[in-house]
Amino acid sequence: MTHATATSKKQKARQDQARVIDRKAADAIEVMPERRDLHFDTPDDRIKDWHGLGPNFTQFMNTLSIFFPAGERMFIDAVRAYRDEIPDPDLKKAATAFIGQEAMHSREHIEYNKAMADAGLPAEELDRFVWSLLDFIKEKLPRQVSLNATIALEHFTALMGESLLANPEVFDGSQEDYRRMWMWHALEETEHKAVAFDVWEKTVGRGPLAYAHRIVGLGAATAIFWPLVIAFYAQMCAADEGCRKAGWRGHLTVLNTLLGKPGVFRKQIPAWLDYFKYSFHPWQHNNAHRLEMIDELVAEADAAYANSTKH
Ligand SMILES: [Fe+2]
Ligand SMILES: [Fe+2]
Repeated sequence: MTHATATSKKQKARQDQARVIDRKAADAIEVMPERRDLHFDTPDDRIKDWHGLGPNFTQFMNTLSIFFPAGERMFIDAVRAYRDEIPDPDLKKAATAFIGQEAMHSREHIEYNKAMADAGLPAEELDRFVWSLLDFIKEKLPRQVSLNATIALEHFTALMGESLLANPEVFDGSQEDYRRMWMWHALEETEHKAVAFDVWEKTVGRGPLAYAHRIVGLGAATAIFWPLVIAFYAQMCAADEGCRKAGWRGHLTVLNTLLGKPGVFRKQIPAWLDYFKYSFHPWQHNNAHRLEMIDELVAEADAAYANSTKH
């Protein structure tokens, strides 16, 4: 490879990443999310092998799906609990759209997770565990804890969404309907990534106490969420013949994709850390240009599922 080609490749990679901007510039970004009632005809018979990287990566993505119905219900309830106190009418409108988007995601993931259970994967048991954990937070702890957990977990979904949007080649060779569904979710997570955060700042506050709560929240969310992902993934793989056959090589594929090369999660570590800055705002990672893809994806989905009988 010539030096010039290497430089231009590096430049392109840089342009492709979210641009880091300061708080003032981030506050000026106005993205109004939109509720889109989309269905995806993900074929149930491909639930165990839909991903191009093989059964283990399929089960990794399937594991993430298990968290969404209960998780998104908590996000909806947490934002709704503060909606009447939001002083800014535009943010109130964005909160309503946020609730609408998460409700649509949840609906699609419930169906997705049902296909897993029907295929003999332990999706129902694991889903029940997530519900009991989050119900405890919602019912036994002050509402601020739920909103705090929501903004921390929305930070994760924004980073995971960006991982996917910045590295779409990770989905090469994947079944098209599954790919489309995950792209849609990643795009909408990007579109509404600052809504719950803005609700937090406008209702709970931006001062030192709110900041202390927020960073403890991210610490707790990290310490609880990722070990659960690993434990759930292990159980999903244990129940899947394809993973058992792939053995340790299958796990290495997942590890390498996430943390090695291309390292889609590894690349997000600095962005994860940015949350600990006092003046953090989700749009400081300015990846708004990704949203240009939404219209194309919606048109694709409308055309693909116009005659769907599944819904
Ligand atoms: Fe979502
Ligand atoms: Fe979200």
